[in-house]
Amino acid sequence: MAILKVARIGHPVVRETAKPVPAAEIQGAAFQRLVDDMVETMHEYDGVGLAAPQIHVGWRLAVIEILPTDERAEDGVPVTVLVNPKLTPLGKRRARGIEGCLSVPGFRGVVARHERVKLEALDRHGKPWSVEAHGFFARVLQHECDHLDGRVYLDRMEGLRSLAYQEEFERFGAQEAVDDEE
Ligand code: NI
Repeated sequence: MAILKVARIGHPVVRETAKPVPAAEIQGAAFQRLVDDMVETMHEYDGVGLAAPQIHVGWRLAVIEILPTDERAEDGVPVTVLVNPKLTPLGKRRARGIEGCLSVPGFRGVVARHERVKLEALDRHGKPWSVEAHGFFARVLQHECDHLDGRVYLDRMEGLRSLAYQEEFERFGAQEAVDDEE
């Protein structure tokens, strides 16, 4: 296994729309190694998710893991592989929450996301699976699927007032996302 280099914003690959993973690739050893390397890279950088464009691969592929000890989540989510995922919002409710991204290192920001979503995808062996998610899990799914369309969380912020360096965020907490009031 290998730890992969993570592309940061400014590298064009972060902004490109990823292509579906071809079915013929999924069973191959190279694809399985790629998935293993993405999981190892996500662990190395303490991420809860990593999308293939972030490691310079333009495929619709992401990995997620939420540890049971993660205070942002109600429940943990074991290592989960999303191949060619399709995300559907459930209901209209949105919730604000803090996000960070390995491609935007050192920052945190407040982002409104759909509270509930349905995700349909293939697993790492090409088997279809689906889940209805809410809360932090739903947030992570939306964040990772955005990467596959060349989007980062900064694009989803209602304004930049809540953008903070991680250290200041840990010291002072999230600043209010006050929009256009001055
Ligand atoms: Ni990200």
